[in-house]
Amino acid sequence: MKIRKLQHDETPPNDLLLLADPSRELVDAYIAEGECYVAEENGERIGVFVVVALDANTIEIKNIAVREDRQGQGIGKKLLQSAITVAKENGYRTVEIGTGNSSIGQLSLYQKCGFRISSVIKDFFTDYYDEVIMENGIQCIDMIRLRLEIQ
Ligand code: ACO
Repeated sequence: MKIRKLQHDETPPNDLLLLADPSRELVDAYIAEGECYVAEENGERIGVFVVVALDANTIEIKNIAVREDRQGQGIGKKLLQSAITVAKENGYRTVEIGTGNSSIGQLSLYQKCGFRISSVIKDFFTDYYDEVIMENGIQCIDMIRLRLEIQ
């Protein structure tokens, strides 16, 4: 598997991006603003992450996703580690990531990679998304923000 930065004239992997975020509008907005990285194997895109700088010291992972048939094989962890490396190489001190209160697997993965919960944005998913999002039998309402200090 190779992870590389997508060039600005290449089409983003929208099918993968929409696995992590059901809002095409939000996906388009952070793709325009940030840098998109893809994981490829045998010429096929199997994973993606998008990073957006929040300020000179802080970068946020706005989207991370693995193709459904390749989930649970360690690829998500490799993508997250690669995003942390990108942040370090570009001199950022802090990496942030946000996910839903119902995203149990994602919360597990991020904490296993060293992220710690920093804040909660109450009602984020009911304020900004039209549809009701359910995961693990829980309604996704609040955004849990996590942070990793890297240097
Ligand atoms: N429950 C508990 N732990 C989990 C779960 C789960 N559902 N999913 C992953 N983990 C843990 C694993 O146990 C593993 O830990 P280990 O290394 O100790 O064994 C670790 O997380 C890494 O697992 P991976 O196999 O690397 O995860 P995967 O390749 O499936 O990628 C991802 C994780 C990106 C969340 C993937 O499942 C996915 O694409 N999901 C749909 C899209 C999504 O929800 N993206 C995140 C939205 S938030 C955002 O984008 C900022």
